[in-house]
Formats: sequence, C-alpha cells, structure tokens
Amino acid sequence: MRKPILAGNWKMYKKVGEAIKLISELKIKVQDVKDREIIVCPAYTVLNKVKEIIKDSNIKIGAQDVYWEEKGAFTGEISPDMLKDIGCDYVIIGHSERRHYFGETDDTVNRKLKAAFNSGLLPIVCVGETLREREQNLTFKVIEKQVHDGLKGLEDALIPKLIIAYEPVWAIGTGKTATPEEAQEVHKFIRDFLKRMYGEGSSNVIRILYGGSVKPENISQLMSQEDIDGGLVGGASLDAESFSKIVKY
Ligand code: 13P
Repeated sequence: MRKPILAGNWKMYKKVGEAIKLISELKIKVQDVKDREIIVCPAYTVLNKVKEIIKDSNIKIGAQDVYWEEKGAFTGEISPDMLKDIGCDYVIIGHSERRHYFGETDDTVNRKLKAAFNSGLLPIVCVGETLREREQNLTFKVIEKQVHDGLKGLEDALIPKLIIAYEPVWAIGTGKTATPEEAQEVHKFIRDFLKRMYGEGSSNVIRILYGGSVKPENISQLMSQEDIDGGLVGGASLDAESFSKIVKY
C-alpha cells in the first residue's frame, strides 16, 4: 500500500505573518491525521519559521527548488545541504513554472534530483504537458522524455524513494482539472514506464501525485483512481480550511 501524500506548494505567496497564521491554523486542523503524509512547501524566506511551528507535529516541510552545487559562488542559490540544515525533508524539482519562466530543463532537473538525494532530501519531481502538446497528442511522448531524462543515471536503490508529480500545465491555476480518468491514464503510463525501466518492485512503491486545480471538491474522486497516490496543491493550499479538507478527503 502506498501512503497518500498531500502536499501544498505555497509558490510566491505568504509573508512571515501570513505564513505563521496559515501553518498554525493548519497544524490544529490536521493534528489527528495519521494515515497520510502532509507536506507544506513555503517560500525560502519562511521555511525556518514554518519549521519551528510544525516541529513535533504530523506536518513535514519541503522547499520549492534547490541548486545542485554543494556550495560556492552562486549568488542567489540555495544548496541541498542548506535545506537539510534547517530541517527540510522534501524539495520540489522541475515545477512547470521553473521550466517555463526560469528555463529549467530535464538536464537541470536531473542534476538537482541527484544533489537532493545526496543530501538526504526527498525529491518531488514534476512533469506535465502543455495544452498544445496535449492537443497534438504528444502527452505520452512528452511525459516519457521528462521522466526518462529527469531520472537518467539515478542509482536504482534510490528509485523507490522518489516522488513524481504529474501536473498538466493546462490545469495549473486555471480551475480546469484533468478528469480523474485523464489523470489516471497518465499516472498509469508513468508507472508502466517506471516498471519497464526499474522493475515492478520499485514502480509499485513510487508515489505519483496529481497537481493542477486540486480542490476539496475534486480530491476524493482523484484519489479513488488506482495510480493516483496524492495531490500537489497550489491555490487551495493557501487556506487552512481548504487544505485541511483536501488532507482529510
Ligand atoms: P493549482 O493547485 O493552483 O492549480 O497549482 C498546482 C501546482 O502548480 C502545484 O504545484
């Protein structure tokens, strides 16, 4: 059985006071949840503060990005060790917004993924097709390339620890969710691909999350699909009430 993961990606929202309010409310609302993993991914500026508040709770913390070098003259970047040092457990890698606005590629995803694992962070690797790619029937081709190139050269032993998030670009922040069947089709495709690459043992334990306009109203249906193991939630994770409903779907 794969333990469900409900992760909130706060993106570039929440100043210190707002973050403290959100996480303090959320902590109380989800305190009794035991059978699922709850992760929040705040901005770098509030990671420390949020971490302080959730210590000894059932909520874990992740960053939204990381650089692949250990240290050095890389102005503006944050290393995996720095994240580990402040108590981060997870890191999102290759979010479509990073790919589209900041030029990230499957190659940078691959470097970041390896660096994250080296420091003991658990990566949440994002993949997803654009609307144009879907309309041109390129979805599976695009996803296969992103998964294949993103994971290239990764040690087999690390594969089961990997978390993948399928986030169709056309569903992010648009209010337009993939139907549970559309999402399941791609999740199954990813799992079958992983099975061919790494064997059934690994592919059966990797968690594949869905992201793109996840809301309290659609999470249960999405989670009822065989290969959907959780959600990576943007907008609806910015409010304690709605994210706690998603966590308790
Ligand atoms: P929304 O839930 O706002 O569509 O964002 C999804 C997302 O990008 C999560 O990483």
